[in-house]
Amino acid sequence: MTSQELLQWYIDAGVDETISDHPVNRFRQEAERPEGSTGKQQTSEPSPQKEQPRPGFSDAAPASSPSPPPTAKLSPANGDLTAAVHLAKAAKTVEELQRALESFDACGLKKTATNLVFTDGNPKAPILFVGEGPGEEEDRQGLPFVGPSGKLLDKMLASIGLDRTGALITNVVFWRPPGNRTPTPQETAICLPFVERLIELVDPKILVTLGGPAAKSLLAQTTGVGRLRGRWFQYETPGMARPIDATAMYHPAYLLRSPGQKRDTWRDLLAIKHKLAT
Ligand code: URA
Repeated sequence: MTSQELLQWYIDAGVDETISDHPVNRFRQEAERPEGSTGKQQTSEPSPQKEQPRPGFSDAAPASSPSPPPTAKLSPANGDLTAAVHLAKAAKTVEELQRALESFDACGLKKTATNLVFTDGNPKAPILFVGEGPGEEEDRQGLPFVGPSGKLLDKMLASIGLDRTGALITNVVFWRPPGNRTPTPQETAICLPFVERLIELVDPKILVTLGGPAAKSLLAQTTGVGRLRGRWFQYETPGMARPIDATAMYHPAYLLRSPGQKRDTWRDLLAIKHKLAT
């Protein structure tokens, strides 16, 4: 392969920037790891327990049956998923959960990301927004929603009297997908135990998904946001004392491209404001 072909291959794969001055041979690092070790978290944690059932969701009604497990083809390696579940469940605080994620190496996105992008805002806030995944600026700063769509999200929050001291913000994946592509089902699945644990620990009054991937992952819905927005769901995991109200909104990046949808979003924001006040 010529260097030009290699460069083209990187471009096709979505690589759009270098992340350090010197190349790192991660294949060699992998080969040098002690046999049987797949990541830091597995060496320091007790043996993984049986995976908990997936959370149940329903459309404004009590959760009925748990959502089906992802198919084998779309699942991360079983051991990695079990490790993720175990590690996430062991976290007793949001800070512990962040440390657990910092030690977790089984999400492929971590290899190309500059920083872990965990949360921003107030972990004691009554409302949690969950987006799709960090972009370029988020990757650089290690904070969610600090680029152009974050600026719009801040304006949306301000329109109902909120700012980041009154809300918590995160994503369904914690590292930037190269080239800002949509996270794959495997990447979302391996991060999901940490997102679910975050929701359990924060225990917000309201959960808001931003965009399709977050709605799909957390509300277990396959229809587009256009059909999900304006409705309330009940979100519940086995580790939660009670179900919480959840709703879906358009992603701010979509609103930047399709300002015509801002009208519906304004309605959604008013519904959220009303729900927060009741
Ligand atoms: N888009 C997202 O979904 N999340 C971010 O953090 C930034 C942009």
